[in-house]
Amino acid sequence: MSDFNWYEFYKDKIGESWYYGEITVRQPEIKAVSEFKSVLGVGSGRCIVEDYLSKVMFAVASDLSRKLLVAAKSRHGNLQHYVCCDAFYLPFRDKAFDCVYSQGFMEHFDDAEVVLIVDEMVRVGETVLFFIPLPAYRNPSLGVEHRRTLDAWTKLLSMYPKVDTGCYEEPMGPIGGVTVKG
Ligand SMILES: C[S@@+](CC[C@H](N)C(=O)[O-])C[C@H]1O[C@@H](n2cnc3c(N)ncnc32)[C@H](O)[C@@H]1O
Repeated sequence: MSDFNWYEFYKDKIGESWYYGEITVRQPEIKAVSEFKSVLGVGSGRCIVEDYLSKVMFAVASDLSRKLLVAAKSRHGNLQHYVCCDAFYLPFRDKAFDCVYSQGFMEHFDDAEVVLIVDEMVRVGETVLFFIPLPAYRNPSLGVEHRRTLDAWTKLLSMYPKVDTGCYEEPMGPIGGVTVKG
């Protein structure tokens, strides 16, 4: 990942209007993840989706930025579990979660890094579910973004026994959902 300053970008985008805006836009993600009983968010940033999901399931948010997690925790009232950690080394036992989830995260990594992160996500989760902008997504890139097609994601993750993809429409354009089972 590039050295984009996520804390500076997000620190003023955590309040109530951002919260409800995010929940509205992220309905495809929320619907898909709420099928599970427990979820670990990876690269959770503002932890908004995790806070919302924690009302109906066991949820843990994680991120490399301690400052961002502290800012999120001070704003949210539902989520109880915030873990500062690196997606390459998740501090959880094997298959600790039904679902390991990320949104707007995997596209920031090159191919070799994606495989290392997915290996780690598959280790701690029964199912990995991540959402990424597709090439036609209209928001400008934040730092380096690899806007791969769904075919490119499927090919990149072809070493896993089961990879499924889906396409969802958000206000700014199409996003992809990728499900991986290890
Ligand atoms: C685009 S943001 C995620 C946004 C989040 N979905 C939100 O709406 O707030 C990417 C996040 O990944 C985190 N990050 C970057 N590298 C990481 C790593 N190696 N492990 C865990 N988190 C990382 C950043 O701190 C940032 O919060």
